[in-house]
Amino acid sequence: EKGGYATFMEKEIHDQPHAVRDTLLGRTDEEGRLTLDELRIPEEKLREIDRITIVACGTAAYAGMVAKYAIERWTRIPVEVSLAHEFRYCDPIVDERTLVVSISQSGETMDTLMAVKHARELGALTISICNTHGSTIPRESDAVLYTHAGPEIAVASTKAFLAQITASYILGLYLAQLRGGTYVDDIKAVLKELAEVPGKIETVLERMGRVKEIAGFMADTRAVLFLGRHVGYPVALEGALKLKELAYIHAEGFAAGELKHGPIALIEPGQPVFVVVPSPSSEHGLHGKVVSNIQEIRARGARTLVIAEDGDEAVVPFSDEVIRVPATAPLLAPLLTVVPLQVFALWLSTAKGLDVDQPRNLAKSVTVE
Ligand code: F6R
Repeated sequence: EKGGYATFMEKEIHDQPHAVRDTLLGRTDEEGRLTLDELRIPEEKLREIDRITIVACGTAAYAGMVAKYAIERWTRIPVEVSLAHEFRYCDPIVDERTLVVSISQSGETMDTLMAVKHARELGALTISICNTHGSTIPRESDAVLYTHAGPEIAVASTKAFLAQITASYILGLYLAQLRGGTYVDDIKAVLKELAEVPGKIETVLERMGRVKEIAGFMADTRAVLFLGRHVGYPVALEGALKLKELAYIHAEGFAAGELKHGPIALIEPGQPVFVVVPSPSSEHGLHGKVVSNIQEIRARGARTLVIAEDGDEAVVPFSDEVIRVPATAPLLAPLLTVVPLQVFALWLSTAKGLDVDQPRNLAKSVTVE
């Protein structure tokens, strides 16, 4: 059942190319236009949406943060990400023209369910991005967009995360197509890039030997920091969460731009810092800014573990380790850059002799508020 792997988590990490491929499957017609029959919300209603709120918890909320960048970019609809357990208690601004998108692997997370119910009471349209057929959250929503990651057994979420991000790209592109506007011409190009992602995840997985080795030497590490910017920021948060859950190591993710506003004070000689570097093809010179961040922390003695695109030579002089991922469109990069962080947490947990699939104090689905 573990497909020859020692743990479900390792198997599920290797399932990720499939999870993304299967979630993309059957979403377009012969002309390459997106068709989302599953949604069952009249197109006119979706055309009228003027704001989107994503509600989710934990890893699913980080998928929502990635989704925000993509959906806003493609649709120009403002997107807010609300932790589901905060949503009900912050007097949310929601009406009939608000689309509330919940993201949940299990479909049973009580906090997320209560947020969806509250949104419906306020008159919002609700769509559930969910991995579990027949679960409660899709039943309580107007429509569902299923992720096809297959059952996720390990408590820590991996393949469901990639599938959630993929499904939210699909939703964003679908809304862009429906509403017309400037991005429509580019939808096909994005879909083509997305279709190539599963093969690129395979490539990342083939290269993970060195990450396993690095993790194997770090069992005594007391703290690890993660930096990222733009879509790399939620990836940094997810890398930190995986490490807390699996290896019980203090880990924090930061937006790289925040560094000089405080967190750089944490840097001392030997401090391991993962940096998720944006593609050199990113807009607004983001790549160069993150390379400067690496330079700054390295100058203060940090041990820099850098995740960078193939061919990005600018990072090399400031990196103790460079972990390479294939090039893709900047908005799609999280599907590749998060993989080494998952693998790192898996092997560090293993190096500490911990139970990878069943970390202490955690349950696979949190059905209490
Ligand atoms: C992290 C993790 C949790 C879940 C969160 C939401 O590895 O598994 O943070 O992502 O509890 O769960 P779902 O997606 O089932 O609503």
